Amino acid sequence: MKNIVFDCDPGHDDAMALFEALANPDKLNLLGITTVGGNQTLENVTRNAQHILSVAHANIELASGQDRPLVKEFYPATNAHGDTGMDGPTFDNADTNYPISSQNAVTFLHKKIQQSSELITIVATGPLTNIALLFKTFPDVKDSIDKIVLMGGGIDHGNITKGAEFNIWTDPEAAKIVFTAGIPLVMAGLDVTEKAYITYDEIQTFNKPGKINQVVYALLSFYFESGKQFGFKNSPIHDLCTVSYLLNPNIFTGEHYSVDVVTDDSEARGMTVADKRPLPENKNSTLVLMDVKREQYRDLLFEAINRLNEK
Ligand code: BDR
Ligand code: CA
Repeated sequence: MKNIVFDCDPGHDDAMALFEALANPDKLNLLGITTVGGNQTLENVTRNAQHILSVAHANIELASGQDRPLVKEFYPATNAHGDTGMDGPTFDNADTNYPISSQNAVTFLHKKIQQSSELITIVATGPLTNIALLFKTFPDVKDSIDKIVLMGGGIDHGNITKGAEFNIWTDPEAAKIVFTAGIPLVMAGLDVTEKAYITYDEIQTFNKPGKINQVVYALLSFYFESGKQFGFKNSPIHDLCTVSYLLNPNIFTGEHYSVDVVTDDSEARGMTVADKRPLPENKNSTLVLMDVKREQYRDLLFEAINRLNEK
């Protein structure tokens, strides 16, 4: 059983990762969920998190955090996720009543980590603003963290620019703080997440009775369509790699490197760079995931959604 906290910006693929985490309480002890401005405004992504937690009948504390990057201007991913950040499904008004903590995410995360008797795993599927602020504000917290499993970056290529991936590009300064914090990191970047896709036909299988099935069907259908503008024939469910890795690391392969983030004001801003040289000073503390057994990845999601429908 792993104690985890989950920082996200839902987001269609964040929603799948949340569902999969919520469906596996015997393996993942979810201590709290926090939101960060990213795919959409903080207000929108927090409302989206409320919707997901409410339809899944969850009972996990939710706190909202930073509404913009540390130093950079904020640009939401409206083209990929729509005006709400999670366009597609409709939710009941009651789903917006899911309680939100009065604490800021940074204080909330600090408390949750302090209270845990076990080391914590941080799952992060949005820009790393909250996590960087956590480390800067409460540096002692690092001793209580086992690892960070995040979706972000790409060693081979980017998506928002030719070299940079959206989450890292949105807040490169925060990402640099997190990647160089000295904490073991698992990076699910575009190298693996673009192989972690779901097909059109697989999405159709969710079109059957059940509230969660219908929400998942609407989310994945929207995301599939919006992915076409980026040239995708199938729909990569990027953020889901984080939770799937925790549930079954054996379906992933990767390499250990020292990874840094470009923060200068060039066209490389927001790129993740792996130092592959065998230098003695390289700590190689980042496991960069490179490949996934896609059908097993897909099946983990299918099983999770089935389980939530039965709840
Ligand atoms: C990442 O960016 C967001 O749009 C997705 O939710 C994912 O976290 C993919 O680049
Ligand atoms: Ca995300």
